[in-house]
Amino acid sequence: TIGPRVTGTQAEKKSAAFIASQMKKSNLKVSTQTFSIPDRLEGTLTVRGSDISSRPAAGSAPTSGKGLTAPLYDAGLGLAGDFTEEAKGKIAVILRGGLTFYEKVKNAEDAGAAGVIIYNNADSLVPLTPNLSGNKTGIPVVGVKKEDGEKLLTEREATLKLKSIPNQTSQNVIGVRKPKGIKNPDIVYVTSHYDSVPEAPGANDNASGTSTVLELARMMKNIPTDKEIRFITFGAEEIGLVGSRYYVSKLSGQELKRSKANFNLDMVATSWENASRLYINTPDGSANLVWELSKNAAANIGKDVLALRKGGSSDHVPFHDAGIDSANFIWMEPGTESLEPWYHTPYDTIEHISKDRLKTAGQI
Ligand code: BES
Ligand code: ZN
Repeated sequence: TIGPRVTGTQAEKKSAAFIASQMKKSNLKVSTQTFSIPDRLEGTLTVRGSDISSRPAAGSAPTSGKGLTAPLYDAGLGLAGDFTEEAKGKIAVILRGGLTFYEKVKNAEDAGAAGVIIYNNADSLVPLTPNLSGNKTGIPVVGVKKEDGEKLLTEREATLKLKSIPNQTSQNVIGVRKPKGIKNPDIVYVTSHYDSVPEAPGANDNASGTSTVLELARMMKNIPTDKEIRFITFGAEEIGLVGSRYYVSKLSGQELKRSKANFNLDMVATSWENASRLYINTPDGSANLVWELSKNAAANIGKDVLALRKGGSSDHVPFHDAGIDSANFIWMEPGTESLEPWYHTPYDTIEHISKDRLKTAGQI
């Protein structure tokens, strides 16, 4: 009932508290690790008094409190040559494609534009979120759907209001289970992220992985082990693996040496028919301990569903970068390696969850 768990929000914190309470029931030693995240942007785009659904780009400048009201300027693809003197002080409306988002904004800024709206070049369920590749811009930048961009080109002016929300934090929830009577045991990490993107309830991305982590902790509560198992759910994955990077950066040299494997679960329960293969994504595409163990486990339960693939984009990457064998588990379409159509949309709901796939991923 919490709904979207956007990084840095109260909803994300509420989720963290819920996860911690569940972990405690499984007799884990639970701690919450808080860290700061970049300022979050929030705002609106309006034309003649009505709202147009938009997404601010991370790294965009905010507007003044009363917003930026300015004429619109059709800047094509946003090439340097698309801007004339006319662009000065206006909000440039730019079509996606050709250049990177940042290059488009840079050209607009150099030409004296006061703001940028980038519209998608294909139909999408949600507005485009321009990715500025870690750059900051001096003017406000938002993304919109293709149809809304085309509509804007027929309008005279628009109002952009973006405010920056400072001093934000997110948190990782860590549940540790230590083996009895073993000194300096090997460490195995079972992880997921629990934050979601704005407007997406995040059932598959990634309540699926998070519920699997919690269920594994519960089922293994009374099963003896010679390993230290760390069940961790990360915050701030969706803004660039910020929680997992922070966690790994705080591991001591001794802990790193004991760390043997990271099983990361991200999108393990889609009901999208085509996503019939459970991919084991390793950041460099090569087989490692996680792949070998998973392959054996799948064979043991007679489930021929796994494939090894090169893939980052989730919290296994910082573990790999620290020299720990790691992989992400994710259902995708064989051949095309496509994700479900509901990915990062309001349609990522429990109706689109397959219990069967959730179970298979958890069993392996
Ligand atoms: N669960 C997704 C996507 C994903 C795709 C994970 C393929 C693993 C394999 C993840 O939460 C996500 O959206 N990641 C971002 C990148 C991240 C660094 C912000 C993405 O893929 O765009
Ligand atoms: Zn995810």
